[in-house]
Amino acid sequence: MAKRDPEIITDKDAMRKWSRSMRAQGKSIGLVPTMGYLHQGHISLVKEAQKHSDLIVVSIYANPGQFAPSEDLATYPSDFQGDIEKLRSLSGGVYVVFHPQNLYDYGTNGDESGKNGSSNSCSSRDDKETRGEGSAVSCIEERQSGHETWVRVERLEKGMCGKRRPIFFRGVATVVTKLFNIVEPDIAIFGKKDYQQ
Ligand code: PAF
Repeated sequence: MAKRDPEIITDKDAMRKWSRSMRAQGKSIGLVPTMGYLHQGHISLVKEAQKHSDLIVVSIYANPGQFAPSEDLATYPSDFQGDIEKLRSLSGGVYVVFHPQNLYDYGTNGDESGKNGSSNSCSSRDDKETRGEGSAVSCIEERQSGHETWVRVERLEKGMCGKRRPIFFRGVATVVTKLFNIVEPDIAIFGKKDYQQ
């Protein structure tokens, strides 16, 4: 199969429009959600997605909603050009890389620099790490954004490493919901992760 340069889409509406126009042409769409810095594990997910759908969309978005202020968003690795190169060299290729700047509402109070979801501008505040579950905040909330709607997996998020990372599961569930609503894929492929994820 031919190699191809993926189209890079950063705008939510353009992404949805692309998906709808492809589906209208009878094509099925497979989504592989990632936070970038792609490795062989991601590539194997793309290959799996290729088996089940006509067109592949890889999203690259370091989701601030799943990082606590004390966690590692500020040092989360990224290599966008390297990622594109890896996807380009894949046989069969990837049609679209969805690379949004930001998927959250920062309202009027938020730090403008935080509008870029991959700007890694979340501060590191150790006191937040030791806060109780009820007052746990994510990088989004620390910036006093306008964002206030979360998808919760209420029972699952409380146990095991949810105790140590009280905002993690709702952050993942929220961003995955957003991605599903924007890309509107027929299927999505996730890595196996650990047991709780
Ligand atoms: O596992 C990941 O890489 C992330 O949690 C995901 C699913 C892309 C959501 O940000």
